[in-house]
Amino acid sequence: MTHPLPDRPRRSDSPLARRAQHVMPGGITRSTVYVPPHPPYAVSGSGAVLTDHLGNQLIDCNNNYTSLIHGHSHPAIETAAMSAIRTGSAFGLPTRSEIEFAELLSQRTGFEKWRFCNSGTEAVLMLVRAARAHTGRQKIVRFAGSYHGTGDELASANTPGVPSWIEKSVLELPQGDLPALENAFAVHGDDIAVVLIDLLPNRAGLTPAEPAYIERLQSIARRYGALVAVDEVISFRLCLGGLHTEYPVQPDLISTGKLIGGGFPVGAVGGRREVLESFDPTRTRPVMWGGTFTANPVTMAAGHVALQLYDQTAVTTLNARGNRLRADLRDAGVDTNGHGSLIRILSNDTPALWWALYDLGVLAGSNGLLSLSTAMTDEQIDSIHAAVVAAATTPAVR
Ligand SMILES: Cc1ncc(COP(=O)(O)O)c(C=O)c1O
Repeated sequence: MTHPLPDRPRRSDSPLARRAQHVMPGGITRSTVYVPPHPPYAVSGSGAVLTDHLGNQLIDCNNNYTSLIHGHSHPAIETAAMSAIRTGSAFGLPTRSEIEFAELLSQRTGFEKWRFCNSGTEAVLMLVRAARAHTGRQKIVRFAGSYHGTGDELASANTPGVPSWIEKSVLELPQGDLPALENAFAVHGDDIAVVLIDLLPNRAGLTPAEPAYIERLQSIARRYGALVAVDEVISFRLCLGGLHTEYPVQPDLISTGKLIGGGFPVGAVGGRREVLESFDPTRTRPVMWGGTFTANPVTMAAGHVALQLYDQTAVTTLNARGNRLRADLRDAGVDTNGHGSLIRILSNDTPALWWALYDLGVLAGSNGLLSLSTAMTDEQIDSIHAAVVAAATTPAVR
């Protein structure tokens, strides 16, 4: 690759970080964006480029942790959001926009029923509640290393602040370990409501799940009357109807979020009619789920346009670009994982990797995740390649 790297951004001790430290613990309000000693501040974004508070311009491969599938300020998404804002940003009544968005999600996924919320965390919590209500069972199976948001039962029991009693309701297993799964069902099968799995777990290294394992997982769960749920909060972008459509599995429920909000806060649960109808308020003892900003028209309108723009051609093209970039990086000796438009750079020192990339004009996720957007040009992809090769081969990062 001969494309030149951008000028090195300037870094400095930030007065903003010092102000933040006075009013927020550690100077941060979102643990997941923390990079030591303190991350720079974003000021604006346009297309694939983010500008920080020092005026540095970076190619944005973080894309707000994969949610900006079309980069920043896409004109059609901006128009949809602005028009929704002008006519009222939230109401204490449902709006047509949520019906239209649920219809679009149904067409794409084949899941008949949908419910919205404001984050992936909420979506997973709602999914678990629906599964428990539908099965009348208590326990959930999930897999070590996978991140499903900030809910108590989705975090490890030894996380500070998380009650130890979750160990009674959550069976955390090593992903891919069939005997462990069989054993969990042999012992607790009558009380397992749902097996929750991410087919491409980012925090666990972005290694795709083995199809044969997923097929067995479904057959074991079915044998014991448990539901299968796929967390597609990140992986939904990889196929038109979500990554599970590439696997030998027919989930009862999926959670999604991130990209489907067009850059605005979102979460959604889709599923089989009989399971999601647990929420039907006309039933006796329906499952309760609220949310003041749930299905707000701004998110619904922006998300609808974002998903319409992310059609089969866009999905295929973006995945092909990601697969090519990952292959080129591997050819250049960089250790990577991932699938389609999601690439994880493996490093023993991820903060050092993150800063090395930042200094070379590329914004990554704090764990070395790169998420491509449709706003990126071929030249920008070449620049990402050059920066990753340079960063990953610096002695501090290796
Ligand atoms: C697979 C998965 N599930 C759930 C979540 C939580 O989503 P949110 O941050 O919108 O609450 C995330 C966030 O990264 C995720 O990657």
